[in-house]
Formats: sequence, structure tokens, C-alpha cells
Amino acid sequence: MSALRSTRDLGLVPDYEGKVRDIFDLGDRFLIVATDRISAFDVVMDDIVPGRGVVLNVMSLAWFKRFADVVPNHVITADPAGFPAPFADHAAHLGGRSVLVHKAQRFDVECVVRGYIAGSGWKSYRQDGTVCGHVLPQGLRLAEQLPEPIFTPATKEDEGHDENIPYEQMVEIVGPEHAEALRRISLRLYGEGAAFARPRGVILADTKFEFGLVDGRIILIDEVMTPDSSRFWPAAGHAPGQEPPSWDKQILRNHLATLDWDHAPPPPALPAPVLAKTSERYHEVLQILFPEEAAAWRRYL
Ligand SMILES: Nc1ncnc2c1ncn2[C@@H]1O[C@H](COP(=O)(O)OP(=O)(O)OP(=O)(O)O)[C@@H](O)[C@H]1O
Ligand SMILES: [Mg+2]
Repeated sequence: MSALRSTRDLGLVPDYEGKVRDIFDLGDRFLIVATDRISAFDVVMDDIVPGRGVVLNVMSLAWFKRFADVVPNHVITADPAGFPAPFADHAAHLGGRSVLVHKAQRFDVECVVRGYIAGSGWKSYRQDGTVCGHVLPQGLRLAEQLPEPIFTPATKEDEGHDENIPYEQMVEIVGPEHAEALRRISLRLYGEGAAFARPRGVILADTKFEFGLVDGRIILIDEVMTPDSSRFWPAAGHAPGQEPPSWDKQILRNHLATLDWDHAPPPPALPAPVLAKTSERYHEVLQILFPEEAAAWRRYL
């Protein structure tokens, strides 16, 4: 299994380092590398989860491909042999976790769709019965399915947490035509993704998309329906009223909850079994949803 904390360990210096991704600016293109870093409570851990970045990237690639007839996407190639110098020389380390993409003029909104009530949506619902201006039925329980999926945009904040906004505010940010197009595409993608996952025993509770413009055309960018941008719940045993055992950082969060840590850096050192089990969870959901893609990228997973 490949493991990568930072592209700096390969002697490469990224132009931008997110919590998870290292990004190289190549003019009209980006090379985006999903590392094995993992964060909790917005703090990047010192330890890595081997193969996590490959899972996130392979999963995004699989969804981009599935949705290509609904909306074009930013992918140019994920084949490391097709990367420009000096990246092609690092194929063994970058393969599976990297993608060369068209740089887009990003819409500064997160296009969130919720089919179930959880997270910040649940918080808002408990306060006043609404989420982003959608008035929801009374008496919903945590993790309950909504009568129909709702579009609940959020701002993209460079600092701090993204903030849920009403649709009207999104219209002010991106304009009415783009707002309507992004809403329509997001709801369609969520519907198709949820319908794909459900017969495989996975509930896609909610997810977040990002879009941008290239040559005036709307394209899907960033990552798509990964455990970092979505809530995946096992359908078996799903019971509204209880916090579902999500396919993501649950094991890590549960472990952190047992510690006396104030959620500020420096992060605590993580025990090997917690990292191993977390890695297993990520590989598991990829295997369930996309066994063929997992096989195709096996040498990097
Ligand atoms: N094709 C693209 N064109 C322009 N911007 C893009 C494209 N694809 C992704 N991005 C942007 O690149 C960044 C991806 O980096 P990354 O996900 O690591 O950082 P982040 O989302 O800002 O922070 P976090 O670490 O919390 O995820 C995001 O800001 C995303 O909006
Ligand atoms: Mg991100």
C-alpha cells in the first residue's frame, strides 16, 4: 500500500497545501495530490492513514466518470505517465492519488444536498425547524430521511467553518442563472449517487459539490462523493434517532473522545490500531461501491 504524508517528502514544493491535498499550479491546469493526511476538528494529525488519499481520489474519479453525461468535469488525466515533468518521474508515489485537472474559475459556494437530516442541518432544524430556509416537517429524528432531498448551499470560508446560507444569498453570490443550474445539477447528481449506493447497502445521507467555469461552461471540480465530502451510512441497522456509524473518521473521532485533548494543535499521537482500522474503513467503502475501480488501481491501494 502506498503512503504519502506530503509531496515535500518527494522533493516537490506545492503551491497550496490544504489539510489533505497538495496542489501544484501549472498555469491553466492544477496537479492535485491527495495525501494520506487526516484531520479531526480541523486539526491535521501528525500520523497518516496509509492509502486514504488513494481511496479519496479513486472514488472521485469513479463518480466523475459515472456523471460525465450529466455534467462535464475537471479531469484531464489520472494516469501518472501523462503528467508533465517533474511529476511523471514520481509515478510510483503519485499514482492513484493524483489528478491533472483544468483550473476553473471556482464558484465560491458549496453545493450541499441532503437526503437525510444530520450534522449542521440537524443543528439548524433543532433550533427553528428549518435548514437554509427549507421548512421541514415537524418531529424529524436525527438521521431520518427527508420527504425529498433538499439543496442547502454554504459559503466557502478560507478561515473557519463554512456557513449555511439561504438560496437567495447564493443567487447574490453567483447570479440567478448559475444558482439555478448548480442547484439543478447538484440535486440530479445526489439523486443518481444515492440510487447507485442504496442497492449496495450504502445510504448517501448528504454530500457537497463544488463547481467552476471553464470557457464559460459549468464543470464539476474538486472531489466528488467521498467520505470527506459526504456522509455514507450502512443501510443495515439504520435507525433514526441514533447517530449512524458513518464510513469515515468515526473510529478516529471515537478514539479522540477518550482523550483529554482540547482540539487545538498539537494533535495527540495516534495508536497504530486506530490508524489501521481507519484505513480499513476507507478501503471498505471504496470496495463496496466501486470494486472494479479498486481492482484497476490495486497497485496503489
Ligand atoms: N479544477 C479546479 N479549479 C479550481 N479550483 C479547484 C479545482 N479543483 C479543486 N479546487 C479547489 O482546490 C482546493 C482543494 O484543496 P483542499 O480540498 O485540500 O482544500 P480546502 O477544501 O480549501 O480545505 P480542506 O483542507 O478543508 O479540504 C479547494 O479550495 C477547491 O475549491
Ligand atoms: Mg476540500
